[in-house]
Amino acid sequence: MANNRTFSPSLQAKIDTLMSRRPKVKLGDISFDSPLLLAPMSSICTAPYRLLMEELGAGGTVSELVSCHGINYKNEKTVKMLEIHPREKNIGLQLFGEDGTAMAEAAKVAQEREPKFIDINMGCPVRKVVSKGGGSALMKDTSKLGKYFNQMKSAIEVPLTIKIRTGWDDDSINAQEVIHIAKEEGVEFVAIHGRTRTQAYKGLANWDLLETIAQTSPLPIIGNGDLHSWQMTQKRLMATRCQALMLGRGPLRNPFIFLESFLKEDDDIQFTPSDYLEVIERFRDYLEEYTDRERTVLITLRKNIVWMAAGFPNVTHFRNAMFQTPDIEETMNVTREYFDAIKDGHKKIDHNQVFMAGGHG
Ligand SMILES: Cc1cc2nc3c(=O)[nH]c(=O)nc-3n(C[C@H](O)[C@H](O)[C@H](O)COP(=O)(O)O)c2cc1C
Repeated sequence: MANNRTFSPSLQAKIDTLMSRRPKVKLGDISFDSPLLLAPMSSICTAPYRLLMEELGAGGTVSELVSCHGINYKNEKTVKMLEIHPREKNIGLQLFGEDGTAMAEAAKVAQEREPKFIDINMGCPVRKVVSKGGGSALMKDTSKLGKYFNQMKSAIEVPLTIKIRTGWDDDSINAQEVIHIAKEEGVEFVAIHGRTRTQAYKGLANWDLLETIAQTSPLPIIGNGDLHSWQMTQKRLMATRCQALMLGRGPLRNPFIFLESFLKEDDDIQFTPSDYLEVIERFRDYLEEYTDRERTVLITLRKNIVWMAAGFPNVTHFRNAMFQTPDIEETMNVTREYFDAIKDGHKKIDHNQVFMAGGHG
C-alpha cells in the first residue's frame, strides 16, 4: 500500500483543526493519539479501513478477531488478517481461541507484525466461537483465566489487553472479577462492551454499570457500546470515568465521528457530501493496494459506501443503482454522480432504528 492520495485543502484543513484538539491518552504503558478508538469488527477492520480511520482521527484501532488456530496452521486467509500497513501507528491485533497454549503460540507470530499491543477477544457471542470455549465463553469459568492470561503474557513482549462483555448473562455479571484476574497477570487495559453475552446486541449497553466499573477498576477501562453519533460520543466523553471510549458501528456510517466529537458550539465546520466522496476514493485506493482480488475490493467498497451514504437524500435509489453496476469503475462512477448530485444535502440518521445488530464481540 504505497499510495499517497492527498485530501483537498478544504477537507484537510477541517481534519487538521479537529485533529489538533484531540487529547492524547496513556492506558497503562500504551499511548494513543485520542481517547476515541476504533472497535474491532470482523470483516471490516482490516488494514485499509483501520488506516483510513486513523487518518480521520481514531486514536487507535484494533484488528478484526483472528483465530489462533488459523495462525498456527498457517492458514493463508488468516495470516493475511495479521497484515499491518506501515503507516498504521496505534494498532492492536486481536486473537481469539479457547486454549492458552495455542493462543500463546499464535501471539508470538502476531507479535512479529509489530502491533502496539495484542488483544484477546473475550466478548464474541457467536455460537461457533462460544461452543468451543472462545470469545465470551472465556468469562464463564474464571478459574482458568489466570493461567490463560499468564501463558500469553509470558509469550510476548508487547502489552497484552482484553476486550470483554459485562458478563455471560444478567445472573453472572462478573466483569470486575475478570478485571482483577487480568490485573494480577499484567494485562494493560480492558475494553468492555456494556452488554452480556446473552443480550448479544439487544437492548442498550449498560453505561451505568460501565461507569461504576471504571470508578473502581485497578486497570484502565475503555467503555464501549451504542455511541452511534458524535453528539453521543462527545457527551459521554465529557462525563465518563472511563479512560477511553471505543466506537464500532458509529464510524461505519459517519467516518468523521472521531473528529466531529471534538467540535465546539461556535465552530463552522461541516463535513459535506464531497468530503465523504473523497474518503471513499481514498478507501478504494487503500483496498486496491491491499489486495489484487477485484471481487473483494468491490464487495468491501460497496458495503462501506452504502454505510457511509446512510442518511443522505435519495440514498435508496443510489444504493439500487450501485448494486447493479458490474465493476469497481462503474461503482465509483455511480458513487461520484450521486455525491455530486447531493452536494448541498445533509445527513440525517435515526439512531433509534437498529443498525447491524450482530458481531463478534
Ligand atoms: C459487524 C461487527 C463485527 C464485530 N466484530 C468484532 C470482533 O471481531 N471482535 C470484537 O471484539 N468485537 C467485535 N464486534 C463488537 C464491537 O467491537 C463492539 O463491541 C460492538 O459493536 C458495540 O459497539 P458499538 O455499539 O460502538 O458498535 C463486532 C461488531 C460488529 C457490529
